[in-house]
Amino acid sequence: MNELYQRDFLRLLDFTSAELKNIIALSIKLKKDKKNRKEIQLLKQKNIALIFEKESTRTRCSFEIAAFDQGAHVTYLGPGSTHLGTKESIEDTAKVLSRLYDGIQYRGHNHETIEILAKHASIPIWNGLTEKFHPTQIIADLLTMKEIFPNKNFFDIKCAYVGDSHNNIGNSLLEAAAVIGLDLRLISPKKCWPDKNLLLLCKNIAKKNKGNIMCTENINEGVKNVDFIYTDVWVSMGENKKIWKERIELLKNYQLNDSMINITKNNNVKILHCLPALHDQKTTIGKSILNEYGFKHGMEITDTIFQKHQETIFEQAENRLHTIKAIIISSLVKKIQF
Ligand code: CP
Ligand code: NVA
Repeated sequence: MNELYQRDFLRLLDFTSAELKNIIALSIKLKKDKKNRKEIQLLKQKNIALIFEKESTRTRCSFEIAAFDQGAHVTYLGPGSTHLGTKESIEDTAKVLSRLYDGIQYRGHNHETIEILAKHASIPIWNGLTEKFHPTQIIADLLTMKEIFPNKNFFDIKCAYVGDSHNNIGNSLLEAAAVIGLDLRLISPKKCWPDKNLLLLCKNIAKKNKGNIMCTENINEGVKNVDFIYTDVWVSMGENKKIWKERIELLKNYQLNDSMINITKNNNVKILHCLPALHDQKTTIGKSILNEYGFKHGMEITDTIFQKHQETIFEQAENRLHTIKAIIISSLVKKIQF
């Protein structure tokens, strides 16, 4: 039996290195099959609920297209459209949806909610982002790294993550580094480092998987000779807008720009961003925030770097689809046969 059958997907520490590698291998196969128009539908007659308490482009579309490609049906439950937590408890909602659906994707404000959902549901729950973790994103990132370095082991891949290391991307990258064994450098001011206990736990697990985890405030130390620099927004969804000023003050020297690229001493360094990115003024938020704080050419990443590396960044975005498909199949198909 497939070892991920009927399992939830809440955070990466719940898995072994072999399990994550199997999901990545399945994603590679699914991506190839879709491109060659040879995809086999394994999710016919399955029904999937998509609960979104926050906005989404990539995650929602990836879950929907993954389901459609595989013959499953979805119900999108957007912000404010269910009774969840207002008129009906998370527990009761989990029990009702378990009678109707085969799996539930949840994106929301509190990680605790997804844990309660998972505890009371009898079907798999997939974490499409909480304030603490974004595990499906990181599987897509690992696939992107593997595609660029097919012959490297993960523990030979040096990845720097700059910016807000205690957000959902920083935390999940940390867990990935522990389980799959990346050489990860989290580069931020101390105030933005992940929770001490999580960091310690991940460092210990990483030792068993040949991983290496470093937290540093020092950009020179962190990005030297890296293969990848990854960044994300400085203020995440759900955070109070008032925090912008303080966060910018903390992170203004951690922008992914030409001078940071020069420090890597790697002309071939690759750039990752989970998106959306504040790299230009073509959005309402971009226009107001970039102007207000004097970051005309981009906030966490400059527009020049973004444009130059867009091929990798958009491949990373496409990989959300293939990896989410692999995650759904892994938890809903008992025996995966191609
Ligand atoms: N990267 C990501 O999760 O994108 P969305 O917010 O568009 O889903
Ligand atoms: N840290 C970001 C990730 C978006 C995909 C957020 O939570 O807004």
